[in-house]
Amino acid sequence: MIQNYELFNPTRLIFGENRIEELSDFLPKNSNILLLYGQGSIKKNGIYDKVTNILKDFKYEEFGGIEPNPTYETLMKAVDLGKKENINFILAVGGGSVIDGAKFVAAAIPFDKGDPWNILKANAEVEISIPIGTILTLPATGSEMNRGAVISKASTKEKLAFLTEKSFPVFSILDISVLNSLPKRQIANGIVDAFIHTTEQYMTYPVNAVLQDRFAESIMKTLIEEGSEFYNNSENLEAGANLMFSATMALNGIISAGVPTDWSIHMIGHELTALYGIDHARTLAVILPALYLEKIDEKIDKLAQYAENVWGITHGSKKEKAINGIEKTEKFFNSLNVPTKLSKYNISLNSTAETIISKFKQRGINAIGENGIVKLEDITDILTTAWV
Ligand code: NZQ
Ligand code: ZN
Repeated sequence: MIQNYELFNPTRLIFGENRIEELSDFLPKNSNILLLYGQGSIKKNGIYDKVTNILKDFKYEEFGGIEPNPTYETLMKAVDLGKKENINFILAVGGGSVIDGAKFVAAAIPFDKGDPWNILKANAEVEISIPIGTILTLPATGSEMNRGAVISKASTKEKLAFLTEKSFPVFSILDISVLNSLPKRQIANGIVDAFIHTTEQYMTYPVNAVLQDRFAESIMKTLIEEGSEFYNNSENLEAGANLMFSATMALNGIISAGVPTDWSIHMIGHELTALYGIDHARTLAVILPALYLEKIDEKIDKLAQYAENVWGITHGSKKEKAINGIEKTEKFFNSLNVPTKLSKYNISLNSTAETIISKFKQRGINAIGENGIVKLEDITDILTTAWV
């Protein structure tokens, strides 16, 4: 059952203490930089001052205000600025939203085949993308070392992804000092997002990819142990560093090499964010237990393996282990104050399921997950199970 694969990751990771101070070593000389950031956290925690102090020796423009779940509407303003100023390097300072936004801006500036939204909507090819570097401020998405970006269009309530090798950051600085100012909610979101990136690339069916499975299991165990420790004692930066590296490793291509992947939890989750603005990780936490319970027979081998190797559950039948493992996962998310029930959110169950199904239909999607095991009609059952 060997699956062929290629592994490619050109991003230089610059990890540890006081690494932002080395930024100028990694910026291309004579570049014309566009500094992108979010809605102000970097101005409060000192990162903005640190970075602009280094950038004063370079030619640069700045664009702030990129929102969580970055929108096409906001990013197109950065595209206009970038075009006007002829920028040739983008420095993203922020979490997944700013980095994803930078990937879109980098691809949209040179895009000459109409509206850059087509990169997301119509899979238009990204032939050229301006190189980007990042300073990650929130361990969660893995965007700092991968080729993906997720962009929302506010006017149509769409949230779509694009993937291209041109989007890999040239470098990403992971300086643990950024962890000091993280609100607990964002720490929890980061742990849950990274955890579910790992399950999306693991909880399918066995293909005897022993090393990939063990990589994934060790990422999940580290997130449970060190993520929880950092959530409860956020002055423990050694635990924070372990969380940070785990989140990057969870979605940089390594654990998906040669294994089937799922991604149905993310696909449904993105729709919940697009419709209701629920935090990305929080949508996933609601869908995961319900989807795994609904698809327990299809995923039984990996669910039982997960229960044993990640949670140490050795008693019972495969099914009992699987159920026990799902329950442990829910308790873990709840211990981070992340709800796992859809009814916690102020939304209507029936119309949500109908809307999501019709949005998938419009995009020509009939089934999601590994081997298309999640049919559109299953989405109603999954959301119903997720409700209480
Ligand atoms: O806007 P600012 O001021 O930067 O504040 C942010 C934002 O309010 C704040 N924050 C970030 N670093 C901070 C901080 N506050 C204090 N101290 C710091 N050091 O945290 C809030 C959330 O930031 P955001 O970037 O939105 O969070 P996250 O990193 O979780 O990114 C979520 C986005 O990434 C996408 C999601 O869909 C969502 O749009 N994803 C991207 C992926 C990828 N490119 O591979 C994969 C993921 O599955 C995900 O879909
Ligand atoms: Zn995610």
